[in-house]
Amino acid sequence: MADFDFDVLVIGSGPGGYVAAIRAAQLGLKTACAESRETLGGTCLNVGCIPSKAMLHASELFAEASSGALAKFGIDIAGASLNLDQMHAEKAKAVKELTGGIEFLFKKNKVEWLKGRAAFESANSVKVGDRSVTAKNIIIATGSSVTPLAGVSVDNEAHVIVDSTGALTLPKVPGHLVVIGGGVIGLELGSVWLRLGAKVTVVEYLDEILPGMDGEIRKESAKIFKKQGFTIRTGTKVTGASTANGKATLTVEPAKGGPAESIEADVVLVSIGRKPNTDGLALDKAGLTVNAKGQVDTDHDFRTSVPGIWAIGDVITGPMLAHKAEDEGVACAENIAGHTGIVNHAVIPSVVYTHPEIAGVGLTEEQAREASTEIKVGKFPFMANSRAKTNRDTDGFVKIIADAKSDRVLGVWIISSLAGNLIAEACIAMEFGATSEDIAYTSHAHPTHAEAVKEAAMAVQGKPIHI
Ligand code: FAD
Ligand code: NAI
Repeated sequence: MADFDFDVLVIGSGPGGYVAAIRAAQLGLKTACAESRETLGGTCLNVGCIPSKAMLHASELFAEASSGALAKFGIDIAGASLNLDQMHAEKAKAVKELTGGIEFLFKKNKVEWLKGRAAFESANSVKVGDRSVTAKNIIIATGSSVTPLAGVSVDNEAHVIVDSTGALTLPKVPGHLVVIGGGVIGLELGSVWLRLGAKVTVVEYLDEILPGMDGEIRKESAKIFKKQGFTIRTGTKVTGASTANGKATLTVEPAKGGPAESIEADVVLVSIGRKPNTDGLALDKAGLTVNAKGQVDTDHDFRTSVPGIWAIGDVITGPMLAHKAEDEGVACAENIAGHTGIVNHAVIPSVVYTHPEIAGVGLTEEQAREASTEIKVGKFPFMANSRAKTNRDTDGFVKIIADAKSDRVLGVWIISSLAGNLIAEACIAMEFGATSEDIAYTSHAHPTHAEAVKEAAMAVQGKPIHI
């Protein structure tokens, strides 16, 4: 090892990179992590998962307090008002605590933070700022950034056409927010500003919002969002945008062709997806190239085509999710240390943190029908779940898709205020190859929303109790 400065150098300190660095250090490897941001934690902690969930939580509390929704529980709150600066301040505090927490964990585990932008000099050598370091193993964990939309220029400082980072820090509630893209970011951040008083229009190119999710879930979600006050324009494309006097004018037209029209907005959020970060990394100096999607290709063990160089997280193929990046970080570090690190990519849950939440794992009904000769589907509505009824929280359902012959669970989809937590049970079940019967005969505490998962499993056999 004397030949190298480090056993492992991780480039990027997002959930993929920082987790890989900590695990590598735990396994006794001399580890460094290069990060160009001022704080550790990547997109997720600084401008992604954490600040967005802070705003979702706070805006939900505001909506509950100000809408009169609590009156039916005998709670009269008169004159609730919004202090947006304080809401932003509390969010910033959570971000600071969590990014500082990673710095603490780096110190505790003796991971050296190399501050600055990293670029390859060769397959074993990387320049970070002015310093050149060598490492036996290098993990590329550089994450992703916003996909730009031609003709629509983002300027987060001007607060008119913004990306997710700008939409997390708007200084005032827009009168009209137009969201381009009916995906996860558009619906989460659209929900924040809708709850705080904005009129929100979502413009989605495809015929349905939330691509990749189960068809029935997509339809039901759109119904719920419309009921909440979202205007959702599917099958519509944005062809350009201009700004004047602190407002924006978007030109839109039907995706399949037709007359153009204009939409006026106080703020436009561009959220049409994210792209892998490899610019400025000088991958060519390491002998690496990117694929047609701009991703670094790896094998199942996260090895790239160059020995000693590995890649994980948003910069490689698969869903762009923090927990997927974390799982890959652990597995990659374990593989480097000579252990067997595995990620089961068939069981990665996804959650949209709106109200209600929308969660899924495994195959959609459409994919299952295509992949399996015969399937069975069990569904259970929260309208028939005693705890949801008690809480006056009955939107949504649980849907379990199982193979008709083996009864093995192929996919689980949930719309519920607690879907993000409920889906964990489905992940465990699928990881252990459970059948729907296994779930149906597992005791679930009463009264809980989780009983709806058990009842949906009973419904796969056609025998739910409460419907
Ligand atoms: P990143 O977190 O993007 O981290 C990469 C890091 O590498 C960055 O800090 C970057 O500065 C650094 N870097 C890049 N290039 C270099 C270089 N050359 N030198 C040094 N450093 C470099 N996912 C979820 O699972 N749940 C959520 O609730 C969720 N919410 C989100 C909300 C928003 C608004 C956004 C934008 C994303 C959200 N995501 C969520 C997605 C999640 O943030 C990403 O999937 C996750 O951060 C990917 O982790 P990563 O480690 O691959 O990369
Ligand atoms: P997305 O891929 O979820 O949604 C983008 C949407 O924009 C799609 O519905 C797509 O059809 C639409 N679109 C594309 N081009 C368009 C155009 N020209 N006009 C109109 N619509 C167009 O991407 P999003 O929301 O930007 O999020 C990026 C990534 O961040 C996601 O892949 C997600 O994995 C991750 N993320 C995860 C979260 C979570 O786990 N809760 C929260 C936020 C982001």
